[in-house]
Amino acid sequence: MTESDIDILFDEATIADRVQILAKEIAASGLENPLLIPVLTGSFVFAADLMRALHRAGLAVEVDFLRLASYGAGTESKGSVKVLCDIDQDVTGRDVLLVDDILDTGLTLAFARDLLLKRGARHVSLAVLLDKSERRTVKISADFVGFACPDRFVVGYGIDKGYAYRELPYVGAF
Ligand code: IMP
Ligand code: MG
Repeated sequence: MTESDIDILFDEATIADRVQILAKEIAASGLENPLLIPVLTGSFVFAADLMRALHRAGLAVEVDFLRLASYGAGTESKGSVKVLCDIDQDVTGRDVLLVDDILDTGLTLAFARDLLLKRGARHVSLAVLLDKSERRTVKISADFVGFACPDRFVVGYGIDKGYAYRELPYVGAF
């Protein structure tokens, strides 16, 4: 498979416009001194754009990173999630904004949200670039969604297939 096999779903300008609108919605949602936590690795490009869009929307954030792996190889999420690299911050009493690339089965973000709530976060909201709502196996929805995503394997804008294609400035599907 090569880049020419990819259908562009969301181009660079469309993503940039949408991220700024999302940032305005997040800024208007009343979060207090939020801690933005990108769930690595796929979210890093989205999170980098989102935090600067939040700044333009007038909301200051702190940022810390959580790296998770959902078990089972390949492209399908499996039942268990493991912390590969934890945040440094104490989240007790904090408003947390979890940021991820794709809400798919929901296992990863349900795990992350529960973990932070267990550690005493005051409120955990979820921002995702893409929502594959048909694929959900866990009852969870995001508070802020960039785009509804078809049930196809997507790459680009941080999202990989076997560590490749993260650098594409658009989101596309094979
Ligand atoms: P969930 O736990 O099933 O919701 O898994 C979400 C994670 O699976 C995302 O953060 C991605 O890392 C990965 N994922 C889901 N769909 C895709 C895809 O189409 N391309 C690449 N990664 C994906
Ligand atoms: Mg991910």
